[in-house]
Amino acid sequence: MEIQVVSLSETERKPVPTENLGFGAVFSDHLFKQTYTPDKGWHGATIGPMEPICLSPAASVFHYAQEIFEGSKAYRGPDGNINLFRPWENMRRFNASARRMAMPEVDEEDHLQAIIQLIELDQRWVPAAPAALYIRPAMIATEGALGVHASSTYLHFVLIGPVGSYFKEGFNPIPVYISDKYRRAVVGGTGEAKTGGNYAASLLGAEEARRKGYSQVLWLDAVTGRNVEEVGAMNICFVYGDKHIVTPALSGSILPGVTRKSVIQLGRDLGYEVSEETIDVHEMLADVEAGRITEVFGCGTAAVIAPVGRFGYQDKEYVVNDNQCGPVSRRLYDELTGIQFGTRPDPYGWIYTIEVDEPVAAAGVD
Ligand code: PLP
Ligand code: COI
Repeated sequence: MEIQVVSLSETERKPVPTENLGFGAVFSDHLFKQTYTPDKGWHGATIGPMEPICLSPAASVFHYAQEIFEGSKAYRGPDGNINLFRPWENMRRFNASARRMAMPEVDEEDHLQAIIQLIELDQRWVPAAPAALYIRPAMIATEGALGVHASSTYLHFVLIGPVGSYFKEGFNPIPVYISDKYRRAVVGGTGEAKTGGNYAASLLGAEEARRKGYSQVLWLDAVTGRNVEEVGAMNICFVYGDKHIVTPALSGSILPGVTRKSVIQLGRDLGYEVSEETIDVHEMLADVEAGRITEVFGCGTAAVIAPVGRFGYQDKEYVVNDNQCGPVSRRLYDELTGIQFGTRPDPYGWIYTIEVDEPVAAAGVD
């Protein structure tokens, strides 16, 4: 793929913030874009200034939510080079989401190449550890037509920006509310695709949970309302004793997380027994109360490893591990981020390194 690059001059580029990055509020100077039309397929690949996109108010994405996205990160290594973590997983999942949403696939090599070129151009936006650069590819339906059918035209774009911690708690236990009122996704629906509608469906429950003092919602399956699925922005794992990690099996309505897959592998290689199971919420909460579950943590690109300190369910509180971060979560956090930031060996070949010509991190930490 030939990418036409229209870059801003040095003086037009924005200053890179060095503190209080938060999550997803700051974006770099440039944006990748390409267009799909039935006659030409994907074409017009450009990296240009980060600026608003102009669409017909009738564009299908606004009315029927035909949209997909991805989320991955680039990490600044100790040598100043930039590490992508398992990027092929995200390229593949993007296309799996595209298929589910009746959208055209993109060439995975081209997609990754676009991301690499964008990061190379905006490399000063990759912050020093423990902050990272968030990579957000998306595809939206652009046909201006109100009939309900798959759009004939699409826009694929990638934006990037430095991020700190996803949660205001940082690496401290978060409170999670288990919703028995709303459902996020259903088998046969779009739960395992990374599409905006799943997140839209979660917002009211998340707001109600936030008003009750919780950071996230744990979703239960839509058929029985008993099986633990995943949390709003991450998969979830339960630690039994100090040896056994259990995570919900991929049911068809859960996002198959790259971090989840990595935790399963890392956990096994660190000597834990790791299993993927159907987890009944009542049994899980009884195990928390009895202390059989010793730790709970979420895992995701944005969330990294996020310890859960307490659950709220049907007006009752269930405290996990005295609301403290436990050793298994800590160890997995250290191992995972060690590989991502290049401070530990990567025996799996998970890291794709971008060698840069400005090796020192420009932006500071959060
Ligand atoms: N589940 C949901 C709903 C998510 O939004 C995410 C984040 O991407 C995850 C799980 C974790 O997926 P990953 O580890 O690929 O980031
Ligand atoms: C991610 O972890 O990359 C996500 O997409 C989660 C959330 C910010 C939607």
